[in-house]
Amino acid sequence: MSSAHERAYRLLAERVRLGTPARRALYATIAALIGSGIWWLGIHYAANVLAVTSDEISRAGHEAFALRVHGATAFAALFALGAMSAHHVRRGWALKRNRLMGSMLIAEFALLILSGYALYYLVGDSTRAPVSVLHWAFGLALAPMLILHIVMGRRSRGLAPNVDDEDHNARATMGQSASPRSAE
Ligand code: HEM
Ligand code: HEM
Repeated sequence: MSSAHERAYRLLAERVRLGTPARRALYATIAALIGSGIWWLGIHYAANVLAVTSDEISRAGHEAFALRVHGATAFAALFALGAMSAHHVRRGWALKRNRLMGSMLIAEFALLILSGYALYYLVGDSTRAPVSVLHWAFGLALAPMLILHIVMGRRSRGLAPNVDDEDHNARATMGQSASPRSAE
């Protein structure tokens, strides 16, 4: 690889990482998305155990509120996904890093979006329960998949050519100091 290519590669590798504010915003959005889903599950399946309420009408009200929060965070998650596709996904793909886990994560989001859409617009009385279980089962898988994606993505950094070392070696071969300080 020529040094121009190596520099371009290194620049792309830097850009595939998210800035701290973007990363925090993404994690907060995903945490709220998963949290609101789990909140609904808690009210729906364990309202009595959690002592939220035993009254049916009040339980339905709590569930509706949890879904309102969930819907809002789902919109925010879709916005974040769009932003990730424009930069992070394209750059990661171009670098051939973390493609498998990246594709699996995209497939996971696609299934969540499709089943969420079905829950809101398509299901009838007989199909609601299975689609609901499918949707939240995929939803519970999101956190472990994202963690795996991040861990494997960070590990794949080692696949990048180590330009610093090569620059250092090149300068050493040419009889130059690798660091301006050591030349002082
Ligand atoms: C095919 C698609 C994708 C590819 C090729 C890909 C690639 C990568 C790579 C290479 C890294 C490691 C970056 C580094 O720290 O050096 C990474 C980290 C990460 N990815 Fe992806 N990714 C894809 C899709 C996604 C999607 C859809 C999301 C949305 C949630 C996502 C979220 C993240 C996050 C949060 C990190 C940690 C970033 C950081 O530490 O700054 N990725 N990905
Ligand atoms: C981008 C990802 C997601 C989208 C677009 C999405 C969308 C939706 C939509 C549109 C609904 C129906 C709301 C209603 O009927 O008023 C829903 C319900 C639900 N979602 Fe999600 N969701 C996503 C991720 C998640 C995750 C990560 C979980 C985690 C557990 C989850 C758990 C649930 C639960 C428990 C319900 C209620 C199911 C029911 O009404 O029978 N969702 N979601």
